[in-house]
Amino acid sequence: MAEKLLDQVNKRRTFAIISHPDAGKTTITEQMLLFGGVIRSAGTVKARKSGHFATSDWMEIEKKRGISVTSSVMQFEYEGKRINILDTPGHQDFSEDTYRTLMAVDAAVMVIDSAKGIEPQTKKLFKVVRKRGIPIFTFMNKLDRDGRDGLDLVAELEDILGIEGVAMNWPIGSGKSLKGLYDIQNNRVELYRKDGDDHFIDLDSDGKLPESEELSQDSLYLSALDEIELIKEAGNTFDEDKVLAGEQTPVFFGSALTNFGVETFLKSFVDLAPAPSSHKVNDDEELKPDDDEFSGFIFKIQANMNPNHRDRIAFVRIGSGEFEKGLDVTLARTGKAVRLNNATEFMSSERVQVSKAVAGDIVGLYDTGNFQIGDSIYAGKRKIVYEPLPEFTPELFMRVTAKNVMKQKSFHKGMNQLVQEGAVQLYRNFNTDEYILGAVGQLQFEVFKFRMQNEYNSEVEMTSLGKRVARWIDPEQLDPKMSSSRNLLVKDRYDKPLFLFENEFAMRWFHDKYPDVKLTEKL
Ligand code: G4P
Repeated sequence: MAEKLLDQVNKRRTFAIISHPDAGKTTITEQMLLFGGVIRSAGTVKARKSGHFATSDWMEIEKKRGISVTSSVMQFEYEGKRINILDTPGHQDFSEDTYRTLMAVDAAVMVIDSAKGIEPQTKKLFKVVRKRGIPIFTFMNKLDRDGRDGLDLVAELEDILGIEGVAMNWPIGSGKSLKGLYDIQNNRVELYRKDGDDHFIDLDSDGKLPESEELSQDSLYLSALDEIELIKEAGNTFDEDKVLAGEQTPVFFGSALTNFGVETFLKSFVDLAPAPSSHKVNDDEELKPDDDEFSGFIFKIQANMNPNHRDRIAFVRIGSGEFEKGLDVTLARTGKAVRLNNATEFMSSERVQVSKAVAGDIVGLYDTGNFQIGDSIYAGKRKIVYEPLPEFTPELFMRVTAKNVMKQKSFHKGMNQLVQEGAVQLYRNFNTDEYILGAVGQLQFEVFKFRMQNEYNSEVEMTSLGKRVARWIDPEQLDPKMSSSRNLLVKDRYDKPLFLFENEFAMRWFHDKYPDVKLTEKL
């Protein structure tokens, strides 16, 4: 039994794609789903993203913005493996959920627009992934357009992100003159825009194209050879241990839109990316993914996927054992027994009832308010508590009050529940106790407002404090006189004091004025 379970676990590849908006995440996801046979034509996911696919069970606000909730998790079979892609929303729908999702994956794919290089959102998401020490695979996208120099792009990984980049393939030309990819890993050249068997040409034992090939005399090919020579001599060499430790990222060039280099990338990724491994539980125990007893943790709660039923779905990352419909589990936080009758597994286009799932898989549990983000659930007698999910430093802040003073009760109830759920973070002005909400992305406020009104019948008034830099201060070092309009003093929900600085400049000014005061940032 145990061996069979391990075989199943070893087939899982659970990852997220991190990128800056417009780098091509949707396009590459779509190509992968095509390879997995989940969709039949390109444009399906895209149409959904832009709202053309509106189905009735999307939350109003999400419909307006065209955000797909049903594709939060996409699952398909590829090369005998079970692939789970977890969506990390970008744009304005960027939120703490995006960060928390990265706690539930075993690897990340970083898509970079090769004309733009590393952009701000990629940097933020990278930072979170890096902390976890999981492997990161890089896809330099849009090679069919004139982009930046390959050597520059690889160097930037080290300069900006501090991770070694190691080229797995190398572009031969780019933009209009794109000829192909020199595939270092597979010792072949992949030709651009050629179908069928002659898509690939094997290299000879010197790593060169046979002279009979027209491309072998092409100046773009010859300069690609020079560059490869250079990176082989001066660049990093592929080191699987470093990749698995997240210290080195394999770099693949390609073009998602023209489906060039994507399959080669996916094959290597599936091959190199790790299967689910052990989790740290109960402070210092290692829990193996093929442990007989089922357990998992909740990393995301999606509310009101169907407004008619007011349901919520709690997303569970399975950490051990096997999930079966009707399983009895215990919720570690409360000790309460819960029967998991109603669960969904996620295919790209529809939600289907799940029967069996193992470590690495994600299941969605219909929730009537039992679960909170970060909760652990387990079957069996042994209590299993996963490490708490990290808290992320919000960047946007709002003052919030109840519009109708007569409805304070529902205001407080809604506020408490939504904060507990992790929808937004709550702070209070240190002196006046007035409520301030913090979020990673603007959409979190909108969802908050919408839900306060729709679920708690409480209209709220919000005034933006704009972007702020939040830093916690040791209470011992705190002197309330330090507060000013440029560094608002507030307390978090554990009563810990922090400053909301107007900008980086205000923070530096504070540093200069109080050089001994230590300020700390969360993730
Ligand atoms: P995102 O999910 O990361 O936000 O990016 P998405 O895939 O939506 O791609 C953003 C834009 O970049 C899209 O164009 C898409 O077609 C284009 N794109 C993605 N990959 C490539 C590529 O390899 N080469 C080129 N040339 N373009 C690429 P758009 O004009 O915004 O959308 P659409 O109207 O064309 O669909």
